Amino acid sequence: MYAIDHNDLGTPAAASLEPVTLEIDGSPVTVPAGTSIMRAAALAGSRIPKLCATDTLKAFGSCRLCLVEIEGRRGFPASCTTEVTAGMKVRTHSSRLQQLRRGVVELYVSDHPLDCATCPADGHCELQDAAAQLGVKGSRYASGGATQRGFAKDASNPYFVFDSDLCIVCSRCVRACDEVQGTFALTIEGRGFGSRVSASQHQPFLESECVSCGACVEACPTAALTEKSQIALGAPTRAVTTTCGYCGVGCSLKAEVKDATVVRMVPNRAGTANRGHACVKGRFAFGYAAHADRVRRPMIRKRITDPWREVGWEEAIGHTAAEFRRIQKKYGPDAVGGITSSRCTNEETFLVQKLVRAALGTNNVDTCARVCHSPTGYGLKHTLGESAGTQAFTSVMKADVVVVIGANPTDGHPVFASQLKRRLRQGAKLIVVDPRVIDLVRTPHIEAAAHLQLRPGTNVAVINALAHVVVTEGLANDAYAEARCEQDTYRNWKAFIADARHSPEATQAITGVPAALVRTAGRIYAAGPNSAIYYGLGVTEHSQGTTMVMGIANLAMATGNLGREGVGVSPLRGQNNVQGSCDMGSFPHEFSGYRHVSDDATRGLFEAAWNVKLASEPGLRIPNMFEAALDGSFRGLYIQGEDFVQSDPNTNHVIAALSAMECVVVQDLFLIETARYAHVFLPGSSFLEKDGTFTNAERRISRVRKVMEPIAGLADWEVTMQLAQALGYPMHYAHPSEIMDEIARLTPTFRGVTYEKLDRLGSIQWPCNDAAPDGTPTMHVGNFVRGKGRFYLTEYVATSERSTSRFPLLLTTGRVLFQYNVGTQTRRTANLAWQAEDRLEIHPDDAECRGIVDGDWVGVTSRSGDTVLRAIVSRRMTPGVVYTTFHFPESGVNVVTTENSDWATNCPEYKVTAVEVVKVEQPEAWQARIRAERSARFSPAMPSA
Ligand code: SF4
Ligand code: SF4
Ligand code: SF4
Ligand code: FES
Repeated sequence: MYAIDHNDLGTPAAASLEPVTLEIDGSPVTVPAGTSIMRAAALAGSRIPKLCATDTLKAFGSCRLCLVEIEGRRGFPASCTTEVTAGMKVRTHSSRLQQLRRGVVELYVSDHPLDCATCPADGHCELQDAAAQLGVKGSRYASGGATQRGFAKDASNPYFVFDSDLCIVCSRCVRACDEVQGTFALTIEGRGFGSRVSASQHQPFLESECVSCGACVEACPTAALTEKSQIALGAPTRAVTTTCGYCGVGCSLKAEVKDATVVRMVPNRAGTANRGHACVKGRFAFGYAAHADRVRRPMIRKRITDPWREVGWEEAIGHTAAEFRRIQKKYGPDAVGGITSSRCTNEETFLVQKLVRAALGTNNVDTCARVCHSPTGYGLKHTLGESAGTQAFTSVMKADVVVVIGANPTDGHPVFASQLKRRLRQGAKLIVVDPRVIDLVRTPHIEAAAHLQLRPGTNVAVINALAHVVVTEGLANDAYAEARCEQDTYRNWKAFIADARHSPEATQAITGVPAALVRTAGRIYAAGPNSAIYYGLGVTEHSQGTTMVMGIANLAMATGNLGREGVGVSPLRGQNNVQGSCDMGSFPHEFSGYRHVSDDATRGLFEAAWNVKLASEPGLRIPNMFEAALDGSFRGLYIQGEDFVQSDPNTNHVIAALSAMECVVVQDLFLIETARYAHVFLPGSSFLEKDGTFTNAERRISRVRKVMEPIAGLADWEVTMQLAQALGYPMHYAHPSEIMDEIARLTPTFRGVTYEKLDRLGSIQWPCNDAAPDGTPTMHVGNFVRGKGRFYLTEYVATSERSTSRFPLLLTTGRVLFQYNVGTQTRRTANLAWQAEDRLEIHPDDAECRGIVDGDWVGVTSRSGDTVLRAIVSRRMTPGVVYTTFHFPESGVNVVTTENSDWATNCPEYKVTAVEVVKVEQPEAWQARIRAERSARFSPAMPSA
């Protein structure tokens, strides 16, 4: 059997660096002050039996199994709750101690069924271990488990079971939910032998506040909380350490496998991004990888109205290459292009852009990051000098003030949210800037110091008002800004921002945020002393997305909040490899490492390495590709891992553009919406089926390791390689590590990255080069990457998308915890138990005047299109603003969003759409009409959604 090696030291590490020397079992041991005796003994190689202690949780001291003897002290103190002192002499093993511990274990065993051989935890149960360690085979206390018997198992959660019979009431689950996850969903009810674990108000787990993160399951020392997959499949036989394929937190996970089947995903305690925690998606929602809907054979067809024809890889790839060459011959080399995926590995992304530039001879390559974080790249590059976040996640533990702008971490970045909540419970102040009352505003033991509930589209007015407070109230850190930034741009900016038009009082009418609240927030941020800004798509997906990113950087520079731990500007990236896909040269104007294609020296480097002449003009961005398709000059597109039709704004426009092309190639796991318009379908490989790396929101490069063979026979990088060869361009790699070697040779910020180093260090935050061989957790220390920080003037310009009498409400969009992006993966898991449709949140005032009550079907209409959803009447919304998600193709929310976009990067303005919402008496008729309209454009050969 595969042995789980958690190397659990019993209690967390002490924060102190002061050494303390004591004697344990006759040997001197030196540990930091504040260390428990249990941990000191474990570090010295002596394992003291324990049940209620684990090194991810504060010591609790309830089980009394870890008793020790201390010279000069009466009794038998618990080693988990007793801290070391200098000169202390401890005995951890004596016949008296063993006798006492045996008594404790016998008591537990008396209350616990003794059917270990059939228990799913057999072999990794800590009670079983303790009994074996102490030679306990039965119990003198003969309750036979009677006190815990009689409660029905709670199997309501789709992923795990709670069996009270197996519970030893150690409260590790309760503490994990409180301390690690921060949800506070569990309590211990009752007293003594009658006590038991209870979720929320004595509810089934599924109906309780539990968010199914699995921290309690991970902490449970017995089988009381066990994964259903483990019960069904039995114990795993091996484990592979890999990186979550969902969000940009990039949690390190251990895929525990039996034969070729993943039994469970366990958060890796050594994972630097997550430290042994995960969320419901990474921890449990991996079943999509083996779902029956996976496409296992390549398919081609002449027209999108034809049925698909299954073919072999050779034919599919040969056909694609021939089509692309035919189109280029007829319409010119720039009539084709490719899209890289933020869900694929760095190596795969690098290969797709290489294929487009080197094999197809055009710079028409773009990435799905275009529609999410492209303003981050542009804004941070211009102000600070690097297109990435400045901090490691752990930096938040040193922040005194945290500002969350346009992000909803508890849903979008749950494991980072847990860490953030821990810091907030320790006393850091929180400012939230969001139109909606996100969970963080008020959650157990946390209350935001200020919630700036702004009107969608007015971010820049708010950030300017905050900066105005800082500058006009004398709160700027002039010494820092004058020394570290361009003095002329700093002074210009100060004069600009001090103007009365940016004051909270003047902007209140625009933003809807009371001036006094903005002043309070500005003062809190400036006072710090360590103030950190975290932001999401609520910043970038606006017509002024780039301006807002620059405004954030301005504020951080002016207050000296960059270049050390606890501060910084941190974009929370949505998909697992958004950072990586941008780093790898996916944008039409940049090679890897954000170097412009017109730079002769850089281009020369790539030309020499790739043995081909490269174009010096930037290629087309995604929206330009669509425009060019409609005007007839762009005819072929290779799309790896991106569902435009569901994820991009103004669906009708996207469909028209795709329908106008002659060869659309979709490479994906499933027949996604975009595949309706494809001529070639190439089956993709999930993150479990390949080797590679992902780069998370902290610039952390982590290994993705192959757990099973690709379901369709080829990993995505192999497909791209074969396509290049079919196009006549030689591309040969035996393993993705060779691709990384090439990336490192050609990219200064990746110069020192190798798979060997990644295996050795666990992960690396770029830049990693001669100056920083082990990577760079905090950027801009001492100097900004661009030298001096540059201030930009950030004039607020109202979006043209504004409410009117016809469309009086503003729609903004976001995510929920249980679904991911366009839902392709999570809709194929049991996460549907929590969220099985997109819903429209609407304020009670707006609902009442439209006659809408909770659960009603409502029609949502904008100038782009309409859709029908079920309503949730909610005070999370501010009057005049409605909110929904875009996880389900049935709701087709992006039919409603417009093609407005960011002035610098064309990132769509998803966050502001003027709409009207009406109660729909006959939703079936609405749905039927909308379905008919859509299917008129859809290929009849595809199954209906
Ligand atoms: S799964 Fe997570 S949220 Fe739910 S009870 Fe366990 S620790 Fe709490
Ligand atoms: S469910 Fe597990 S972790 Fe929770 S109290 Fe019972 S034995 Fe301990
Ligand atoms: S927080 Fe993100 S990376 Fe971590 S397990 Fe959840 S989805 Fe995966
Ligand atoms: S492990 Fe120390 S009291 Fe339980």
